[in-house]
Amino acid sequence: MNVLVIGSGAREHTIVWKLRQSPQVRALYCAPGNAGIGKMATPVSLKPNDIAGLARFVRENSIDLTVVGPEQPLVDGIVDQFEAAGLAIVGPTKAAAMLEGSKAFAKEFMASCNIPTARFRSFGAGELDEAERYARQLGLPVVVKADGLAAGKGVVICESFDAAVITLRDMLQNKSFGRAGEQVVIEEYLVGEEASVFALTDGDRYALLASAQDHKRILDGDRGKNTGGMGAYAPAPVVTSEILKRIEEEVVLPTLRGMKERGTPYRGCLYCGLMITADGPKVIEYNCRLGDPETQVVLPLIEGDLAEIFMSIAEGRLDPAAVRLHDATVVCVVMASRGYPDDYQTGKAIHGLENVKQEDGCVVFHAGTRMDGDQILTSGGRVLGVTAIGYSHELQKTIDAAYRAVGLITFDGAYYRSDIGQKALQHLPKPEQRSPK
Ligand code: AMP
Ligand code: GLY
Repeated sequence: MNVLVIGSGAREHTIVWKLRQSPQVRALYCAPGNAGIGKMATPVSLKPNDIAGLARFVRENSIDLTVVGPEQPLVDGIVDQFEAAGLAIVGPTKAAAMLEGSKAFAKEFMASCNIPTARFRSFGAGELDEAERYARQLGLPVVVKADGLAAGKGVVICESFDAAVITLRDMLQNKSFGRAGEQVVIEEYLVGEEASVFALTDGDRYALLASAQDHKRILDGDRGKNTGGMGAYAPAPVVTSEILKRIEEEVVLPTLRGMKERGTPYRGCLYCGLMITADGPKVIEYNCRLGDPETQVVLPLIEGDLAEIFMSIAEGRLDPAAVRLHDATVVCVVMASRGYPDDYQTGKAIHGLENVKQEDGCVVFHAGTRMDGDQILTSGGRVLGVTAIGYSHELQKTIDAAYRAVGLITFDGAYYRSDIGQKALQHLPKPEQRSPK
């Protein structure tokens, strides 16, 4: 099977790494890829949004299957265009990707299917007064969200009504988020711990991957600005088997059923971003793709052949039993460029990558890197996802392995959080409390 992966981050590097393990995969391409991906897949210099160019490449190179990493091409309808041309692709159609593409749509959908989520209302440009009144009604803090895709910046948690009013005017009147902010969702602030659960689905059948927890803030202790994600681990102990069952029954099943009933069956990876509240799991958001950095910790836990799993999704014949999971823990620590998520420098030489060995259970997934001759340079805010794949239950050991690997790598201005996984340990019995095996 010849496979094309679309995207250029550590998520796509992980997908490529896992596909490389499949005996079925012959040629593997990545558009556009990065320095790490380039060692496992042939780079294709096409942008993820160049749907026509990608379709042409697929036809000319006898690609059997295309896998889409990022959301934008999905929301733009890459799946519809590929399928219309008879090309096999994994991902939701444009109509199904609306679950991520429009927060107002996702919320209305959840309300109509009785899927647990924060109380909300959506408002358009002419409804500023009503929006302000509703924000006051909900109480503080109140959450204001731009409707459309906003590169992770469209959610503002307002601690005062003044802040809510400023945000609402900014989005609805000043159009600071462009078209993404022409409509806003105002919702209740949820208290609890966040977790992500991914369902791989062909629209009818589905298989859940291990639960994961991202670390979105830039500083230790979940302080500072929101980022794309500074690290992750799987499985997430906050998602007990009882909670996972509720997520399956109260979120995943009704979402897939509801999308099918609307005539827009959801195929691909359904990302459920959840808050585990005192009342149980509630959906914060859906995404129409795998998460980053969650992919780095959930894909290594799949025992089966990812190429076969993806192909069966594209062909509408997923066998959930084929998605077996390792009983183990995985931890990913993101090494970023100092200054991220604001301004940062790029072009710094990365040293020590060769010291991290898969035999020791560690893999470095590249997020923002590029080749310059023989040298690998930084080229983004998030640079590397240093990942320990501990084939043991002991999360602490896996955390230690990830940080040992981080210690082997240097580049000018490298920054990482030092507490990835700590929150999980709080849910686990202390080593001395565990019963001897
Ligand atoms: P997003 O940019 O959509 O990933 O959302 C950013 C973050 O905002 C989420 O990961 C949550 O931490 C937070 N968030 C969004 N909605 C809520 C909510 N209703 N209550 C509490 N936190 C929220
Ligand atoms: N880790 C957050 C995301 O992929 O959206």
